[in-house]
Amino acid sequence: MSTAPLPANPDPAPGPHHVAIIMDGNGRWAKARGLPRVAGHRRGADAARRVVRGAGELGIPVLTLFAFSTENWARPADEVNDLMGLLRQYLRNELEELHRNGARLRVIGNRDGLAADIVCDIAEAERLTRANGRIYVNICVNYGARDEILQATRNLARQVAAGETKAEDIDESRFERELLTAGVPDPDLLIRTSGEQRISNFLLWQCAYAELVFVDALWPDFGKQHLEQAIAEFRRRERRYGGVGG
Ligand code: FPP
Repeated sequence: MSTAPLPANPDPAPGPHHVAIIMDGNGRWAKARGLPRVAGHRRGADAARRVVRGAGELGIPVLTLFAFSTENWARPADEVNDLMGLLRQYLRNELEELHRNGARLRVIGNRDGLAADIVCDIAEAERLTRANGRIYVNICVNYGARDEILQATRNLARQVAAGETKAEDIDESRFERELLTAGVPDPDLLIRTSGEQRISNFLLWQCAYAELVFVDALWPDFGKQHLEQAIAEFRRRERRYGGVGG
């Protein structure tokens, strides 16, 4: 038997540890088939279910999906209603399976603008799954990064004015505690589907060092194999964090 030492593992935990996804292209998927936009969103919700399942199977610890931005209110009322209806269905129909599979669900965003029944469903889903730890699933709803950063800044300014915090004590970790994602590690991989190459006001602070992977597939066509390809691309990248690398 050979006594040669095993090759050293270059990185015992290659990641990604947190995958964030901008789910784009539902409208184009529907248009290409002569279907109403809502059909694309419905298939988009199916893709979200598939990808949550796939992420669990791939052992990704944190998955964050951008489902509705603060800017999406500008869409026609019917489309906004359709999207809210799909969110309602997701929260009601998926909760049991998520819980059974050890997922902790969190909804990130401003709840003030949401219907009361959705706010209740969110609270129930978060309460039921709060002790789970196999995968954290965050769904961003009525979320906008600039708004989040402004809100954090206002909170800190109030604390400084009240003498509770000193301006010079505000460092990155103090600031992060005021963000809606407090306690969630930063994404190390950000995926956007549909060939668009923008961040669109999504997790601007948190994605400071994320690897960006843009995928041509439209969101309703996205599946576990696309996720695996994006992860393979992530692992090919050399992450230097401003340093010179190895
Ligand atoms: C972007 O496609 C997608 C959205 C604005 C909504 C994303 C929502 C879902 C996938 C369904 C609900 C999800 C969950 C988790 C319940 P677009 O409409 O901007 O597409 P387009 O750019 O092709 O028009």
